[in-house]
Amino acid sequence: MQIDIITVAPELLDSPFSHSIMKRAQEKGLLHVRCHNLRNWAINKHGQVDDYQYGGGAGMVMMCEPLSNAIEHLQQTTIYDEIIYMTPDGETFQQQMANQLSMQNNLLIICGHYKGIDQRIRDLYITKEISIGDYVLSGGELAAAVLVDAIGRLLPGVLNDETSALFDSFQDNLLAPPVYTRPVDFKGHKVPEILLSGHPVKIEDWRSDQSMKRTQEKRPDILKD
Ligand code: ADE
Repeated sequence: MQIDIITVAPELLDSPFSHSIMKRAQEKGLLHVRCHNLRNWAINKHGQVDDYQYGGGAGMVMMCEPLSNAIEHLQQTTIYDEIIYMTPDGETFQQQMANQLSMQNNLLIICGHYKGIDQRIRDLYITKEISIGDYVLSGGELAAAVLVDAIGRLLPGVLNDETSALFDSFQDNLLAPPVYTRPVDFKGHKVPEILLSGHPVKIEDWRSDQSMKRTQEKRPDILKD
């Protein structure tokens, strides 16, 4: 999968994709993330990509021309399945959306800053608007990093059996069960007997039961009938 990201702050995205699972996904050639500095398409030699908003009011707006030129430049070599704009007023990102996006080949992500991007770019180019939650970040970069991480780890071959995404919280509308490792007794708190029993079927039943209890307790809203 190829993911292109247009941003005014590419440095913010250096680290999230240079470590751990995202690094491995790229080394294995399963994921290609490319960050493009919007200032390469600035309207003048000062690197301008934003301007005051019509109608007045505080906060700058990201201009049409740089974004339009950047998008069309990238479109010359790539056909995008989705052109995504990260914005707090978008659809809330959830596991199911991560699953769907992980089945695409090419994604283009636009990171907003300041007051956001000119509405005409949203009308003309954007096919999907995504929020990572009901709070406002200072830019779309961290949100884009969350999106790419959640999608990237689902690509076939990225995770090994041990970290398999099938058992993640939210995959069945259930939270994952509690997990334990050594020692058996930590400050008087013991690992549940069943996990030491060596009965795979009973352990599986216990885990399902715990998942259900945990979901009922912590997130009854995600339980489907
Ligand atoms: N940009 C600023 N806040 C955001 C959010 N909550 N989700 C996605 N993009 C954003």
